[in-house]
Amino acid sequence: MNNNLWVIIAVILFVGCNNHQTKIVKETDTKTENNVTQEQKTWWKEGILYQIYPQSFKDTDGDGFGDFKGVIEKLDYVQSLGITMVWMNPFFDSPLVDNGYDVADYRAIHPRYGTMEDFEAMLDGFHKRDIKFVLDMVVNHSSNEHEWFKQSRSSRDNPYRDYYHWWPAEKGDPPYRYSLFDPEGAWEYDATTNAYYLHTFAKEQPDLNWENPKVRQEVYDIMKFWAEKGVDGFRMDAFQFASKDTTWPEFPKGHEKDFIKWYGMRPKLHEYLNEMYQEVIEKYDVFAVAEGAGSTFKDAHDLVDADRKELQMAYHFESVDMSRKPNSFELSEFKEVFTRWDSAFAKQGWIAIFLSNHDNARLINRFGNTSPEFRTPSTQLLNTFLLSMRGTPYTYYGDEIGMTNIDMPTLEEYVDVDAIGKYKTAVANGEDLQEFMSILNYSSRENGRTPMQWDTSDNAGFTKGKPWKRVNDNYTKINVAIQQDDPNSILNHFRQMTKVRKENPVLIYGDYAIIQKEHPSIYAYTRTLDNEKVLVVLNFSENKSDIKLSEIKKLEATIINNYNTVAVSEGNKITLMPYQAVIFKIN
Ligand code: NOJ
Repeated sequence: MNNNLWVIIAVILFVGCNNHQTKIVKETDTKTENNVTQEQKTWWKEGILYQIYPQSFKDTDGDGFGDFKGVIEKLDYVQSLGITMVWMNPFFDSPLVDNGYDVADYRAIHPRYGTMEDFEAMLDGFHKRDIKFVLDMVVNHSSNEHEWFKQSRSSRDNPYRDYYHWWPAEKGDPPYRYSLFDPEGAWEYDATTNAYYLHTFAKEQPDLNWENPKVRQEVYDIMKFWAEKGVDGFRMDAFQFASKDTTWPEFPKGHEKDFIKWYGMRPKLHEYLNEMYQEVIEKYDVFAVAEGAGSTFKDAHDLVDADRKELQMAYHFESVDMSRKPNSFELSEFKEVFTRWDSAFAKQGWIAIFLSNHDNARLINRFGNTSPEFRTPSTQLLNTFLLSMRGTPYTYYGDEIGMTNIDMPTLEEYVDVDAIGKYKTAVANGEDLQEFMSILNYSSRENGRTPMQWDTSDNAGFTKGKPWKRVNDNYTKINVAIQQDDPNSILNHFRQMTKVRKENPVLIYGDYAIIQKEHPSIYAYTRTLDNEKVLVVLNFSENKSDIKLSEIKKLEATIINNYNTVAVSEGNKITLMPYQAVIFKIN
């Protein structure tokens, strides 16, 4: 060995050889320092979630839309990922103005996806494979084609009138309210009864009136219906907006980016959640995760503090609000956001960890590197990150093989109500449309909705018909079949990483501590649980990078590594290759 470099130790990957497979005990009474014992250990904290966007996963009837039978065909694949929970986006009867986030009947399946029998067969297939199923509950609003709304709008004295929020026109124009999808604002005039109704999203998505106890009871009954069928969890869509300030204060223009502060977490939300807990959650072995966590840590805590008996998990948007414009990724910001949010839940509460979903562009485009040289290691690095943080990791379909954004430079190809609404707003505000389109092309959520890339056959093996959305041209290079048997693929690294997480409770419950947070290219942190301690080192750069970790006594072994070796020299100086991601067992 050379003296100057002292020692270059090639630590060979020995995933699976670690012998600390402590079984998690279900519950504990003892309260000690960290999160493990503050609150009960539960399956949903220990779970690894995979999100399926059903219309893009696998089509079996040739109509170009994914369906339940397609998911059933792929159950073994899903199980092979090592995930333990699946969240599926809405598949209920719907006019599909917002791809199913506009529900016309909460107890019926949209024929596009199959029948209730198909759903039950799919659910059974998941359960047989020990995979829990999370349903998307879209109950801040319904579709304007829901029977409740049809009744509600038919006359002012209809028994369903108070299922929605109405503003009688004789009071004059309602105070301006921002709508997330509609440049015209959140009140829509309806001539039938000469009144305006409220819609936080598109005008086809009227907001339900949660003030009305009958509405709440309807929702709990729907949840029970699905819980009785055996679903294991609920993802509460846009739920932070369910309670409203019904004095309807005018929205201050210019604060659109800040709308959660104005509309989120109104006072009665906690009351409603507590009621939902008692009516549904505590009666079944289910959990509920909120989309959104308010705008302060206190909001977030209050939602998921176990003692308050409301929700069990929340996800915040800060992680996906970063890097929305091309080339804007800042590692320092990334570290700061995740460290801050971890500290918020260090002692109490639980969050989800995610970097992408159906409302976002692909994770590799935003946080990784799509060049052919770095696509594989950078996606592996991001997956190492997701699966080694505290909080339940959420992986979006396709991210396990490194699917990328699709190039859609002009508006014609867009079908999303959000994209089209934003374009109209940009036109109305006289924005630079070229710049607008370049940002949309990079950050639009349509990027994350393209058909799953299974193999090199036509349409990436997604459908034998015409896919509802164009398949990404890169499917011949990025697909499951190519990666399936390659031990170094993104897919097989993902599978190793889920195994590592399940075998190392320290990655689930351990305390998180960032190391050398100012390091410009490496994100390093430890996780500690009793006597178990691991170190995660991630090189977010195209160049080799060093980090000297003299504060660490001993690097004992490599638990996982996306390269074959890792260079370690005197004083725990670790030299990482571009986008190298390693987890060490340390003491
Ligand atoms: C959040 C969902 O994730 C999004 O896809 C949808 O458009 C809105 N809520 C409205 O339901």
